[in-house]
Amino acid sequence: MSGRFHSSRRVFLCNAGLAIAGFQLKPPIEPLHPSPALDPPTLASFVDPLPLPQLARPAGTRPHPEKPGESIAYYRMPMREALIQVHRDLPPTRMWCFGDSFPGPSIETESGRAVMVDWENRLPARHFLPIDHTLEGAGPSLPEVRTVVHLHGGRTPPESDGYPEKWIVPGQTQTCFYPSAQHAALLFYHDHAMGINRLNIYAGLQGFFIVREARESTLHLPAGAYEIPLMVSDRLLTRDGQLSYPVSPDPDRPWTPEVFGDAILVNGKLLPYHDVEPRRYRLRLMNGSNGRFYRFELSNRAAFHVIANDQGLLHAPVEARRLPLAPAERADIVADFAPFAGSNVRLVSDSFDILQFRVAKEGGYEGADLPSVLEEPGEGVNETAAVRSRRLTLDERLDKVQQSMGMLLNNTHWSAPVTENPTLHTAEIWELVNLTDDSHPIHLHLVRFKILDRRPFDRFEFMGTRTLRYTGPAQPADPVESGWKDTARADPGMVTRILVPFEDYAGRYVWHCHILEHEDNEMMRPYEILRPGKTSG
Ligand code: C2O
Ligand code: CU
Ligand code: CU
Repeated sequence: MSGRFHSSRRVFLCNAGLAIAGFQLKPPIEPLHPSPALDPPTLASFVDPLPLPQLARPAGTRPHPEKPGESIAYYRMPMREALIQVHRDLPPTRMWCFGDSFPGPSIETESGRAVMVDWENRLPARHFLPIDHTLEGAGPSLPEVRTVVHLHGGRTPPESDGYPEKWIVPGQTQTCFYPSAQHAALLFYHDHAMGINRLNIYAGLQGFFIVREARESTLHLPAGAYEIPLMVSDRLLTRDGQLSYPVSPDPDRPWTPEVFGDAILVNGKLLPYHDVEPRRYRLRLMNGSNGRFYRFELSNRAAFHVIANDQGLLHAPVEARRLPLAPAERADIVADFAPFAGSNVRLVSDSFDILQFRVAKEGGYEGADLPSVLEEPGEGVNETAAVRSRRLTLDERLDKVQQSMGMLLNNTHWSAPVTENPTLHTAEIWELVNLTDDSHPIHLHLVRFKILDRRPFDRFEFMGTRTLRYTGPAQPADPVESGWKDTARADPGMVTRILVPFEDYAGRYVWHCHILEHEDNEMMRPYEILRPGKTSG
């Protein structure tokens, strides 16, 4: 937060016992909830309506920081402790939220229409989830409650991008400028504070940011009430409805390598239902989980069309029956409920029910068919345009008893000097050589990229001699991930190659695994885009 859009670090009065959403909050904080674990199947299914995230309303306008005479929409987004009803039969859950809801209110803008947001940290002074003070950037001398908001998928200047170390504390405000000069896409904002963002996001600090484009409305896609954003995030809950976050057996090092909740929330509800008409809907799916991967399907195994992924529309709709989404990945599907008039269809993933659609018997008039082409071609970048390739490993550190001590990118800690320093207005190929047993969703800030291919290689030979020997042919990206991406799965035993044009801004950003437990334990690195003419060190 430096330079032109310097943050106004305003001080807010911290008053304990805030009355939020009609509930009197208890003063902070007992640490971990002693109540026994909830077994979600013991709850009644499909008794709550699906919440639709409310739209954020601008608090006014601000002068455009780059274009004198123009003004842009201005939002104030407070982060506060709130009580969220995740299921009819559970007591409300203490969460940390943007604007008192989970997900937070959706910010919507048009492509090229900049917005300004004040992210106001009004959280309590103590955290209610287990901080591991041995992690980089989360030392015991630092304030427990720190936040810095990042717009995931946003083409944002570096000073507004939410660098993990530029956090603020309760009472302070982070001011961000989002030019939004990018294609229509489902983006999301979330906390990114160094060493604790897995806890802050688990607590609820996440919301949608939707970029629209005039072109999109000429395609006659389902819109308005027929377009539904769905944030899917798993949690572990106690029987009295409170969040529980798992810890390691070592009380001094509570970090745990992965979290898998058995309560799958969609837009903050556990097992909700939604009334639909017998017609097509555009479901905008986002994996908002810390570590869980989904394979979304309809319960009747009906086919649907995937029309977009992370950074916007695909070239053409892709028919599929199953949609895999790793943490932070998004995809839009068009599902047609017309054949199922009068019955129920569920959105499921493996053995989990997520959401029930109750399809009305009648109604559902609709006009045009799904277009066969969504996005003009010619937007592609060619592999030959890349000025260089970087070979980057994904590594796991194991201690003597084979316990994971965390993962690294290129075997390099967060604090080491920048090693990835592409030049602005060039494209590079990044080869992600996965030496671990897990799939890691790798995310680069600022840019959008294409997945070129994934190719199996001999892991042991590579670890022994650093020579890369492929053991099979390269597999192209799945058609459902063929569009512009900002997060891509690097599967175990594979080299995943992505083609990345570096455009718009020079400066310091980060790239990381979006399994939040990995990210918080140094599976994250800074990278720096250099101005043309400057050479790297
Ligand atoms: Cu979704 Cu670095 O973030
Ligand atoms: Cu991001
Ligand atoms: Cu990872």
